[in-house]
Amino acid sequence: MDIAREARKVMEENRCTTGGHMYTQPSKDHYPYQWLWDSCFHAIILSHYDPAAAQEELRSLLSKQFADGMVPHIIYWTPGILHLFRWGMEGTSSITQPPMIAYAAWQVYRSTSDKSFLESLYPALLSYYRFLVDKRDPRDHHLIGIINPDESGEDNSPRFDSPLSARADISSIDHLALRKKLVDENVACKFDAELCMREHFWVKDVLFNTVLIENLRALAQIAAVLKDAEGEHFARLHAELVAEAMREYLFDGGIYWSASGADYAQLRVATWNHFVPLFAGLYTSAEAEYVVRTHLLNPATFNAPFGVRTVSREEKAYRAAGYDNDFSWRGPVWMAPHWFIYHGLLRYGYAKGAADIRDKSIALLESSGFRECFNPETGEGLGARGFTWGALVLDMEDAS
Ligand code: GLC
Repeated sequence: MDIAREARKVMEENRCTTGGHMYTQPSKDHYPYQWLWDSCFHAIILSHYDPAAAQEELRSLLSKQFADGMVPHIIYWTPGILHLFRWGMEGTSSITQPPMIAYAAWQVYRSTSDKSFLESLYPALLSYYRFLVDKRDPRDHHLIGIINPDESGEDNSPRFDSPLSARADISSIDHLALRKKLVDENVACKFDAELCMREHFWVKDVLFNTVLIENLRALAQIAAVLKDAEGEHFARLHAELVAEAMREYLFDGGIYWSASGADYAQLRVATWNHFVPLFAGLYTSAEAEYVVRTHLLNPATFNAPFGVRTVSREEKAYRAAGYDNDFSWRGPVWMAPHWFIYHGLLRYGYAKGAADIRDKSIALLESSGFRECFNPETGEGLGARGFTWGALVLDMEDAS
């Protein structure tokens, strides 16, 4: 199978133009809107063969930015389809998602050297990252909080079970009910982050903060190209402050754990978030070696026949195929985590490990198609079909 051709085909089939904006739907039947981190992945993918479309994807994503800088995690370009998160501002959700936008914009710039593109995006980018740093860290401890599990991109990950009061064996229907209740609470506190976090849900998430650090670094590079010394200083300083705070509050026993609430209660559920800090270089080389050897390569926990489990097989919450053979962040393999881990491993010089992730990703796409996620034990495809994340293999070079 020509995997590059198949990847481009899925991207093309899912491309839409609405209201003068062009974007890519993650899956035409399951997810017919524009999503924040998905669009960043799309821009990264498109930067390899259609940088003009990559630019459009990011412009479209930023076109619904709120006055305070927030970028919503969903834009409902097509009216009339009901969805769980159809609340808040007209036509968008009112929460955000892992802030991958600066990284994606930088990658698009590197493939085009188009400075005017950076110029046109920069004010929106700067105000988005300022929003996160100002509004999501009320106590100035430099860890950015999320107000809803969906802001992590991993809607039903068991690391949020304790703040949601969910049981490890919760069904997907019951889980959705808990998240709907939280949405109602978010609505009641008008998405005022400080209030929502104090009263309902306040997680200092490893994935979100790691992504933020690497994106602040990308923002600093963008600011440097545009000769905005103040913006560059802001981005570099906060990348460092967040990295230091993650070390102080989230690092324990050689790995990073997310934490909840004002007292940083650690959410000790072993998920692939142990590995995402590799992406931003947050481990020392010795720590990275420990994490890779003890956890990533361990067949009893994360290293499955068909890829990296998103949750350790030793966790009570682990389910290879979700609760009802559907999409789930409680164990199945997903392509975005594979992409983060691939780049994290390369950063530390683990070329063979990275090549293995790439090979397993391609093998899954070949045997099961472009599905939303995959059973780690059997390789069976789960959830949405025609899902774009598989095209991230175009951003995984053959490193062997
Ligand atoms: C699912 C995923 C989320 C993604 C969305 C659209 O809800 O959990 O991460 O952004 O689908 O693909």
